[in-house]
Amino acid sequence: MTARPDAKRIAVLLSGAGSNLSALAARDDLHGEIVLVGSDRADAPGLQLAVDAGIPTAAVAIGDFSSRVAWEEALTARVTDAHPDLVVLAGFMKILSSVFVERWPVLNVHPSLLPAFPGAHAVQAALDYGVKVTGATVHFVDEHVDHGPIISQATVAVGGADDVDCLHERIKAVEYRLLGDAVKAFCQDRLHVEGRQVHVRTNHTIRSAS
Ligand code: GRF
Repeated sequence: MTARPDAKRIAVLLSGAGSNLSALAARDDLHGEIVLVGSDRADAPGLQLAVDAGIPTAAVAIGDFSSRVAWEEALTARVTDAHPDLVVLAGFMKILSSVFVERWPVLNVHPSLLPAFPGAHAVQAALDYGVKVTGATVHFVDEHVDHGPIISQATVAVGGADDVDCLHERIKAVEYRLLGDAVKAFCQDRLHVEGRQVHVRTNHTIRSAS
């Protein structure tokens, strides 16, 4: 599909399966276009999904660089070349410096109700803790891990028989909707950040304001 002339340019970074990327790419109501999929892993299945969808890709592996700083500079150069308005972290497993996250608006999707269970093993940590309810969070990224202002959250009930895989699958189903709706709101200039508060204007507000 040809992107609208006013469509926002979106770069997605991922390290793994890329199911959030697939869900995002399947939305036809984003008012945005995915112009780049980048990864720190050349063998990330999500990168192949992007290739199959005809989206430009960039694999920038940290092991190919002498330092983390050099790696991030290379990643920054590839993302800069794509001229994004927004960067989306969809299962990107590397921590980015404040230099990177202050350069563009950056969104992240996380499989817990932050601030509970930040970090790379959120689903296992929620199971280990014994919570009865967990969920998904979409937030702006700041210089701290899984910390920036929260755009949206939704709950997922934890069942007694859940293991990490089946609980994560149910959380991902929620993530697809939350992330797509958050990206759409960004692309429509409906997100307004005041400190830790993110105000999400509705389409109705936009229509009645015009
Ligand atoms: C998602 O659960 C996301 O919240 C977390 O990593 C997972 C990525 O899954 N940060 P996928 O690669 O999109 O399938």
